[in-house]
Amino acid sequence: MARILSGIQPSGTLHLGNYFAMMKRMIEFQHEHELFCFIVNYHAMTSVQDGDLLRKNTMDAAMDFLALGLDPEKCFFWVQSDVPEVAELTWILGCHTSMGLLERSHSYKDKTARGLTPSCGLFTYPVLMAADILLYQAKLIPVGKDQKQHVEITRDIALRFNGTYGETFVVPEPLIADEIALIPGLDGQKMSKSYGNTINIFETEKELKKKVMRIVTDSTPVDEPKNPDTCSLFALYRLFASDEKLEDLRGRYLAGGTGYGDVKKELFGLIWEYFSPFRDRRERLAGDPAAVAAILAGGAEKTRTVAAITLDDVKRKVGLRYR
Ligand code: TRP
Repeated sequence: MARILSGIQPSGTLHLGNYFAMMKRMIEFQHEHELFCFIVNYHAMTSVQDGDLLRKNTMDAAMDFLALGLDPEKCFFWVQSDVPEVAELTWILGCHTSMGLLERSHSYKDKTARGLTPSCGLFTYPVLMAADILLYQAKLIPVGKDQKQHVEITRDIALRFNGTYGETFVVPEPLIADEIALIPGLDGQKMSKSYGNTINIFETEKELKKKVMRIVTDSTPVDEPKNPDTCSLFALYRLFASDEKLEDLRGRYLAGGTGYGDVKKELFGLIWEYFSPFRDRRERLAGDPAAVAAILAGGAEKTRTVAAITLDDVKRKVGLRYR
């Protein structure tokens, strides 16, 4: 039973990209592994600087996870800032991390290249992520390809610390699911909050219909054969359909005679149905934020006991425990 850990940023409303790349996998892991799953609100501060919005996104993300089946009894589920030990470890690790290592971070370079004025927080983002992972001695880190380098930076930091002070941290490994193909957004680019092309997990019926109808397709006429392998509508359909349904649609694409409009209606139906068992629970949670807050408080308490052990060991080794 490996210890698995991953976090999600509450930087916007969670969408199908988040669900298939991270949340669904994590919810499945809870049955067979020791799972640490958390909402990384300190990380989200690098982009969200509006207190009310960050609060709302954090609660919404928690409700989404719980509604979708994450069981706080089976795993460690908490909000990052409720275990402030991570901030303390971030400082300690930061003092053992060279600027050069962080300067090589792709995600930092990409963000600054897009014109974002970087804060210190954005620059040291990978150190906070390393603290997230090392504080809990996690072995496997399920992340998307875009986060792989952050796990590698974590490994460098852990190895260096272990080399200096003796065995302290478990050296983690990224767990990249290759079979998760790119999840396209409404415009065909990768689904991402920053591209404004998302379909959220819990849309209203009307909004979901409107969004699915907006998915961009090519202009092949109804009668003509279509290419399933280059079509974002087909790629989204694949996530929700049974193998049988998928093969059937593939056949209809290749044969011609099925219009994109009809496929969109089918896709809408599939998405709506897929999430319907969770929708009631999501509404009940939304109506009882105090209960959600209590679950998160309990999760934080349980998680802090693990964090305290590592942090105490680290503080002893580096000389911060001097008495
Ligand atoms: N940086 C990750 C992302 O944006 C989120 C994250 C923060 C994370 N801390 C983590 C993921 C620790 C895995 C482990 O997706």
